[in-house]
Amino acid sequence: MRDIRPITDPSRPKVYIETYGCQMNVNDSEVILSILQDAGYALTEDMDEANVILANTCSIRDNAEQRIWGRIDQFKLQKRKRDNVVIGIVGCMAERLKDKLLEAVDIVAGPDSYRTLPDLLAAVRPDRPQINVLLSHEETYAEISPVRMDRNGVSAFISIMRGCNNVCSYCVVPYTRGAERSRDPYTIVREAQELFENGYKEVTLLGQNVDSYYWKDKENADRNVNFAQLLEMVAKISPEMRVRFSTSHPKDISDEVIYTMAMYENICKHIHLPVQSGSSIMLEKMRRKYDREWYLERVRKIRSVIPDCGITTDVIAGFCGETEQDHTDTLTLMEEVVFDSAFMFAYSERPGTLASRKYPDDIPYELKTQRLNEIIALQGRMSLKSNEKDVGKRMKVLVEGPSKKNPDELCGRASSNKMCVFPSRGEKAGDYCEVEVVSVTSATLLCKRIND
Ligand code: 5AD
Ligand code: SF4
Repeated sequence: MRDIRPITDPSRPKVYIETYGCQMNVNDSEVILSILQDAGYALTEDMDEANVILANTCSIRDNAEQRIWGRIDQFKLQKRKRDNVVIGIVGCMAERLKDKLLEAVDIVAGPDSYRTLPDLLAAVRPDRPQINVLLSHEETYAEISPVRMDRNGVSAFISIMRGCNNVCSYCVVPYTRGAERSRDPYTIVREAQELFENGYKEVTLLGQNVDSYYWKDKENADRNVNFAQLLEMVAKISPEMRVRFSTSHPKDISDEVIYTMAMYENICKHIHLPVQSGSSIMLEKMRRKYDREWYLERVRKIRSVIPDCGITTDVIAGFCGETEQDHTDTLTLMEEVVFDSAFMFAYSERPGTLASRKYPDDIPYELKTQRLNEIIALQGRMSLKSNEKDVGKRMKVLVEGPSKKNPDELCGRASSNKMCVFPSRGEKAGDYCEVEVVSVTSATLLCKRIND
């Protein structure tokens, strides 16, 4: 069996990788490590001994980039302490800022150029920084087997597509990750199978918009694969291996996907369905291509087919021109849906996006923050309400490890993605446990063992 864990070889030059941003970046770092291991490097978790320091970066909001600028200053201190340290910025920020980063670092590589990292590293000199920010219409790193860097060997990410063809007016991703392309489904199934053989119990299929996954077979159109079919192919590997996916787009999530989820016990009953705003006027300006009613209909459809489906979301507060009424529309939608949890953000204008060119970022900082705080407070109440409905229910939990607060308890996620805590009977990460919910907080289901 091929080893999917980092190799340890003290004689090799060392690479240290920090990852920022989304799950997709976590997986990209594993692809980068695979490419660099093949080129003779080995991973280190200690920056002080690294020959190469890489930051895999995110540009989604300005504060994400500011944080990384702070880290670059830290990396540069390493250069003062030791000779021959190479610093590289890869990923979305590399793609967005391109040669503007060359004054600060030695290597700049965009999300589609990771195969060239060994060449860039070979060519780099103190006075000769290297850059490759070409975007591709084909690159999916399909046959590269990511080297897994997660801690517990239970749950892994698999990229099923790259890029994004939506042009949400606030979003920088189409510019940093390029056009959408789907990965060969047979390489996806092979990767999932290999993870299962290595003891993994859960895979999460990743894409900016998984519902638009579509693989066209060059020879036989009958062998084309859509997302629902891909889900089924991965679910069939083993009933013991859970399948999750992220992110769904409200305009594209199909009934076929919802029915496929319902058919397989091991496809987790959780959909991350970013709404962004509850106001149809804002959604139009955001170019989301659905309105409030469409979103609510999709939620009703999901719940009619899968009554206990976890639904989570993303919300942006204070988008351009947002009125009190638009903000109230977001709050009332959240009350109507009762999301299990949400990622909530203040709008951050990103240079080059449609919104930055067309609409002034005109909601004052204080008002944006106030609206965001109202959204966060309301979501806290909704999470609690959603969790309270689970009291008395039985759940099958995949153990992640000991709970942080009490080593005699275990934690793990239910199919809905809710975090459960319960007394240990000596199980370990990767085991399944049946539990019953006894009480809840807004973040956790506190459970007892069945037959306790
Ligand atoms: N400002 C604030 N939040 C944003 N997101 C994307 N772009 C921006 C932006 N410019 C949020 C969206 C998206 C999540 C990944 O990040 O909610 O779903
Ligand atoms: Fe991921 Fe988007 Fe950040 Fe890029 S900009 S790392 S795609 S969250």
